[in-house]
Amino acid sequence: MDFDWTAEQLALRDTVRRFAREVILQRAPEIDETDEFPSDIAKQMGELGLLGLPIPEAYGGVGADFISYVSAIEEISYASAALGVVLAVHTSVGSFPILYFGTEEQKQTYLPRLASGEWIGAFALTEPSAGSDAGGIRTRAVRDGEDYVLNGEKIFITNAAQANLFCVFAVTDPDLGKRGVTAFLVERDTPGLAIGPSEKKMGLHGSSTCPLSFCDVRIPAKNVLGGVGDGFHIAMQLLDGGRIGIAAQAQGIARRALDLSASYVQKREQFGHPLADLQAVQLMLADMATKVEAAHWLIYHAAKMKSEGLPCGKQASMAKLFASDAAMSIASDAVQLHGGYGYIAEYHVEQLMRDAKVTQIYEGTNQIQRIVIARQVLKEAK
Ligand code: CAA
Repeated sequence: MDFDWTAEQLALRDTVRRFAREVILQRAPEIDETDEFPSDIAKQMGELGLLGLPIPEAYGGVGADFISYVSAIEEISYASAALGVVLAVHTSVGSFPILYFGTEEQKQTYLPRLASGEWIGAFALTEPSAGSDAGGIRTRAVRDGEDYVLNGEKIFITNAAQANLFCVFAVTDPDLGKRGVTAFLVERDTPGLAIGPSEKKMGLHGSSTCPLSFCDVRIPAKNVLGGVGDGFHIAMQLLDGGRIGIAAQAQGIARRALDLSASYVQKREQFGHPLADLQAVQLMLADMATKVEAAHWLIYHAAKMKSEGLPCGKQASMAKLFASDAAMSIASDAVQLHGGYGYIAEYHVEQLMRDAKVTQIYEGTNQIQRIVIARQVLKEAK
């Protein structure tokens, strides 16, 4: 019994699992080694409908529910956390902004391209001096006739090297603080938008992370997303859903680390026995498996709440906090269980440890998740 998943949800999860194991898993070491975006796999993901899973069929998507989408991120991340984040960012904060807040014209224009994978989506909130303090962004948007003119800098933008469409947050009224932030849909080839080189990261090789600069970027007012001044609320609501996706990404990494470890300790012999015979090893495996199980329930509880349209900011933050901390500790234990072999690339677990780290950082650090959770707990106690 698992939240009474429907036959459709299980079938979709199994299809994605097969694709991830048969197509992606064997390529993961090469993607990590070269740090090149695997465009052929991304194309196949598009053809399979994975890049438009929770987008309604009317806009070219598959029309799957949120739980199925989250399980797809987990399965893809089991094979490649880099492709997991490509999918999560493209959908949760690249496509959902339009689905949830877009005009009918914006939906018709952009969603079919995003859902098919012809276009990749990205989310541009973070700036050099505004990371955790998302309300402190300085990118400025000034109205000029029928347009807005954007100037400023963004950093750490996932998918930027491939993205065709950016959901960009900018200040339209500096006197209003967070209520003076507006979201814009900005196409890649807009004059004045420059996409910098991808950062050299500790992990998630193959997924791009670039700075953006806006120099007099002219955006038609019809590309405002939601209302003028609604940008901060939009960003926060998107991140509520996005954080469940990152939790699922972390879970994929954790499950792979556990599977590799459980297999390795039964093959590797020391002191005349497989490592698995040692209680010290069994205790570690038991803790790893318990964390995976606990993360599963937190993630799919939050996903179920979201799919039912219930407020789930607290649950999303709990899932992201727990699953990412669990993934980091499980990946680290996997390296430990592999001993010296764990520290070399061939055994894959060192990559999982590098990939896991960022899940504690992006879409809100785990310190920010605790703030979100605590604020809600205090609110509920009033
Ligand atoms: N949903 C809707 N509205 C929300 C909200 C939510 N979840 N959270 C806050 N708000 C609203 C508040 O109600 C408030 O509204 P009013 O002004 O109308 O009263 C407004 O937003 C401001 O709220 P706060 O005063 O609570 O804001 P704050 O400045 O204290 O910040 C924060 C709150 C939780 C710390 C927020 O800044 C935050 O989440 N920071 C982390 C940023 C982050 O996650 N960045 C990720 C970057 S994207 C990324 O990583 C993607 C990637 O590439 C992988």
